[in-house]
Amino acid sequence: MRGLILAGGHGTRLRPLTHTSAKQLIPIANRPVLFFGIEALRDAGIRQIVIVVGHTKSEIVSAVGDGSRFGVHVEYVEQDAPRGLAHAVLTAEPLLGREPFMMYLGDNFLLDGVSDVVRRFDPARDDALVLLAHVQRPEEFGVARVEGGLVRAVVEKPARPPSNLGIVGVYVFQSAIFDACRAIRPSPRGELEITDAIQHLIDSGRRVVAATVGGYWKDTGRPEDLLDANRMVLDRLEPSQAGDVDTASRVEFRVVIGKGARVRNSVIRGPALIGEGAVIEDAYVGPFTTIGDGCVVRGSEVENSILLAEAQLVGLEERVIDSLLGRAAVVHGRAHKPRALRFVLGDRSAVGL
Ligand code: TTP
Repeated sequence: MRGLILAGGHGTRLRPLTHTSAKQLIPIANRPVLFFGIEALRDAGIRQIVIVVGHTKSEIVSAVGDGSRFGVHVEYVEQDAPRGLAHAVLTAEPLLGREPFMMYLGDNFLLDGVSDVVRRFDPARDDALVLLAHVQRPEEFGVARVEGGLVRAVVEKPARPPSNLGIVGVYVFQSAIFDACRAIRPSPRGELEITDAIQHLIDSGRRVVAATVGGYWKDTGRPEDLLDANRMVLDRLEPSQAGDVDTASRVEFRVVIGKGARVRNSVIRGPALIGEGAVIEDAYVGPFTTIGDGCVVRGSEVENSILLAEAQLVGLEERVIDSLLGRAAVVHGRAHKPRALRFVLGDRSAVGL
């Protein structure tokens, strides 16, 4: 089986981070979410992977390369614009050949991988497989109606969902999917929808099987989803200490401290991850926090947050919680009079005071 990872798209829900960076490269526990996906496919025995890229192509190619460091072979195909998941499938058709392939949305995160999904698919009988999960707000997902293990209908974000089985973003397709993608028309939002192509398969009498996710999964499309996935990964952290921690500091519970990191007069309460070369000084880093490489947390407290590389929290009176700071973002306290709030914020930034 081959792999198809979609890593183009708009990323509107993760602005402003996605103004400057591909959303699939936003880190969870200091590793791009896309890397977890590549490894999930590899661990399921998939070694030939096609990645669909968009305007962030160069960034993704330089992060992933030819795939050899993951033990897979990666080829890239460029989608001219994010015209929908079914359009992405057609863009990749020349590279995929006729054998079954797993399609994996590059911003998805499945803690226990996809090996079960590959095992569940029977290439001799099944035309497609759709991975589903019980979700709380099905109206925000593509939703499936399932009978006897087969998918009977799929609808995109229905006002009245036929079930609470949301589509996760992992599929297996035989080559019949290409004709189905060609047969459909763009949806009202102007995209070629994979749900329409799957419905087309069902309507033409093809066998579309349902599988349900066992463990934790997340579509990391929104900041709160990234924080949630970050918590799940940190929860499994193996502690290690490669940095320099002074005697005035306390490191409690499961904490990873990267090479060259300096911890001075601070408390770090895990699970937490401190990136390489980070400086933690007169600070508190609380549970479920990932501090990126080269960050500075000085005279400040932070908890349940993600700081991307080189970000800084300096001299803050209040604890920072539930936050996501982009690369080299700086938040500093009110050192000067008058006491006031001063900002330099990028387009579409969000600040909660
Ligand atoms: P989505 O999260 O559904 O869409 P998006 O990336 O445009 O994000 P937003 O809704 O916040 O604007 O996309 C799922 C995955 O598929 C994601 O990794 C991006 C990728 N994708 C493509 O590669 N090509 C496309 O045409 C689309 C729509 C998405």
